[in-house]
Amino acid sequence: MYSKGEYSIMTLRERFLEDGFLILPNFNTVEACDQLMARAEKLSNEFDYKGHASIFQTSEQTKTSDEYFLNSGENISFFFEKDAFDEKGELKNDVFHSLNKIGHAIHDLDEVFNSFTRSPQMKKLAADLQLEDWLIIQSMYIFKHAKIGGVVDVHQDASFLYTEPASCIGFWFALEDATIENACMWAKPGGHKTSLRSRFKRKEGGGTEMINLDDTPYSFEGMIPLEVKKGTCIVLDGYLPHYSKPNTSGKSRHAYAIHTIDRKAHYPASNWLVRNMSTLMPI
Ligand code: FE2
Repeated sequence: MYSKGEYSIMTLRERFLEDGFLILPNFNTVEACDQLMARAEKLSNEFDYKGHASIFQTSEQTKTSDEYFLNSGENISFFFEKDAFDEKGELKNDVFHSLNKIGHAIHDLDEVFNSFTRSPQMKKLAADLQLEDWLIIQSMYIFKHAKIGGVVDVHQDASFLYTEPASCIGFWFALEDATIENACMWAKPGGHKTSLRSRFKRKEGGGTEMINLDDTPYSFEGMIPLEVKKGTCIVLDGYLPHYSKPNTSGKSRHAYAIHTIDRKAHYPASNWLVRNMSTLMPI
């Protein structure tokens, strides 16, 4: 069973409500992480990118509003790093080493990802956090390759998975050690006790837009590096501002993340991510 690290069984949920995140070391085995990384590499190598290339960079949201991105909710789609292509539009490296992420329904459509996602320890954690009725709405395989892995600007996940009332909770799995050197996530304990700044939605007439909800700038004061070992699970409150720097190191930082929402919450049809809600399954 997964290690609760410094948290006791009694305080796991309370600790999450207090800090806005939880760090659970040894949540997945090294073998399970290796198996998931091998699967992602195989899927990447099988992906015929020509005609499907789509760049995903959170710092350039407006450029990502193409059909491929908007249709990725129900399938397995591949997104490239913005620096992956040369001036002629050709990949500088092989497909695998050029990818930023895979999304957004890989947890439902691929058997290896499905079993990693819906593991016995995930069901136990969901019960410990009282999230049995939370549905997995999206998944992302995050490559953060050596040298090319791009920045992820400070954001709140609830901006991208907006519900009324707020209910987005993320689970981020380190598939390799994440350190300051290879661009781990940064966040502030208690940082989730704040307002939601923006909402990323579909625009009437096509494309997407980021709607401003609150002008208050994010505070970086008190943010700490979430340095974790391979196999660690980080649980993230949807309101917790977090970010990661570009990976300029020689070490990759693969991770896999899923996001969940409360079945009882309202999920607006204008959200950027469209899924057939009746087919969503719990953790
Ligand atoms: Fe995030």
